Amino acid sequence: MITLGIDTSCDDTSVSVLEDDKKIRSNIVSSQVDLHRFFGGIVPEIASRKHVELIDGIYDNVLKEAGVLSQDIDLVSVTNGPGLIGSILAGLCFAKGLSFALEKPLIAVNHIEAHAMSIFLENEVDFPFIALVVSGGHTIILLFEDYCHFKVLGSTRDDAAGEAFDKIAKYLKIGYPGGQIIEDIARKGVKDYVMFPRPMKEEANYDFSFSGLKTSFVNYIKKNGFSDVNLAHILSSFQEAICDLLSYKTIKAAKDYGVERVVVGGGVSANNRLREIFSERCTQEHLDVLFSSPHFCTDNAAMIAITGYYYFQRGITSSLDVKGYSRMAMA
Ligand code: KG4
Ligand code: ZN
Repeated sequence: MITLGIDTSCDDTSVSVLEDDKKIRSNIVSSQVDLHRFFGGIVPEIASRKHVELIDGIYDNVLKEAGVLSQDIDLVSVTNGPGLIGSILAGLCFAKGLSFALEKPLIAVNHIEAHAMSIFLENEVDFPFIALVVSGGHTIILLFEDYCHFKVLGSTRDDAAGEAFDKIAKYLKIGYPGGQIIEDIARKGVKDYVMFPRPMKEEANYDFSFSGLKTSFVNYIKKNGFSDVNLAHILSSFQEAICDLLSYKTIKAAKDYGVERVVVGGGVSANNRLREIFSERCTQEHLDVLFSSPHFCTDNAAMIAITGYYYFQRGITSSLDVKGYSRMAMA
């Protein structure tokens, strides 16, 4: 079975061809990051226009790379939220057109759920498991009981973890997007050189708050300044606070629900310190922890294809009038 995946939820235009649920025949991600870097963040209008410009060509290339023709496609799977609405509509309209023209079913997929499901592109995972999805727009803990069957245990009350990395990088004028840049600088730093607060850590829930941590960071810099010498220490301390909070709450959820395995997805899960702290703590707690390869942590259409595939296997498809959403309740 050939599933075409499409993701245009943010600033990456991605199209993928997936055979059954494991064989990625092709996965193209065209990043717009160079266009948005100047602004220190994504400009929604530029992002949606660029998706419209690029998607036709990327579709042609992905089919060529996969060695399939459009008539070989059995299912069209596309992100319909959450994300930037103009960007989402660019991919959704393209997917609807294809589904209609090829007379093949359409399935609209939740981008956050897909970040969790990306783990199945490269791994077998037994249910139930706890998934932490940690990206530029979302920080959420889910309990997966089966394919397409999950409940939300907690989420961020304000900024997403990736957003906190991006905003701090913007504040320090060290580049965009901030996560990888901060990780690179922090690598040489001392982890708790500054003991930044851990908001909500001791609260009996699975929610996060990163806005206060960001404010503490800014206040620290305003009071103490920074030099080339200690920036690595300060950023390492900031990264440590985020990684501590994310791993602590996720592992707490796994223990409270008696679940033996944890999956971490989304752009921030590419962070090596996050992977390290999860691995250490999960080993201590006798939990298995799984991460995707870095290129499947960040936005990609293969994760949309595999999520759509699992829904289709359960007899679920979407109608051609399915809408796009900037915000979406997790079902
Ligand atoms: O999942 P993603 O590609 O897009 C969204 O759905 O948001 O995640 C992008 C986010 C950005 O905030 C970026 O700074 C962050 O993931 N990120 C990282 C790393 N690589 C990407 N954060 C921390 N460490 C990294 N290595
Ligand atoms: Zn994403």
